[in-house]
Amino acid sequence: MDETIQAQEAAILEDIGEQLKDYDQNRGSLIPILQMIQQRHQYLPPDSIRKVAEHMEIPSSEVYGVATFYNQFRFHPPGKNPIKVCLGTACHVRAADVILENFERKLGIKEGQTSDDREFSLERVACVGCCALAPVAVVGETIHGHMAPSKVEGLLMRIQIHKEMAEREKEKEKNEQS
Ligand code: FES
Repeated sequence: MDETIQAQEAAILEDIGEQLKDYDQNRGSLIPILQMIQQRHQYLPPDSIRKVAEHMEIPSSEVYGVATFYNQFRFHPPGKNPIKVCLGTACHVRAADVILENFERKLGIKEGQTSDDREFSLERVACVGCCALAPVAVVGETIHGHMAPSKVEGLLMRIQIHKEMAEREKEKEKNEQS
């Protein structure tokens, strides 16, 4: 894990520690605590489970059990480019599952996970409301309609090119200022 990510995680844990002071140890507080963490940080880092367990004085396995019971909780941080592949009916009948598999293969992660560099996260979603464009993938806020397994690589390449262009632009601005 690189240093920036380590520092981010440490800051998240510190924030959770601060927030926990507002919650008592009553079991009824457990779900609100998990919701608070997810709302503030978009996911439940592994160490947050331990921290919550310590605060509530219950086993980590119990906290984890509750968190995994509800599918509202994420255990991986959102990537800078969150990718959602629609597997609603209209997309599913147009081979959206093969598109999802292709993303998994090209990114080297499974659905529900985030790449180690946190550039990409991948998840399946139900209908995103534009079935006429099925099959659909959503990257960030952008909808990509009429997707096909063969378009996955090109889409990822475009994201990479945009990222490099943005980095170059930032570098240029920095050099101009100095
Ligand atoms: S089923 Fe995919 S957009 Fe509706």
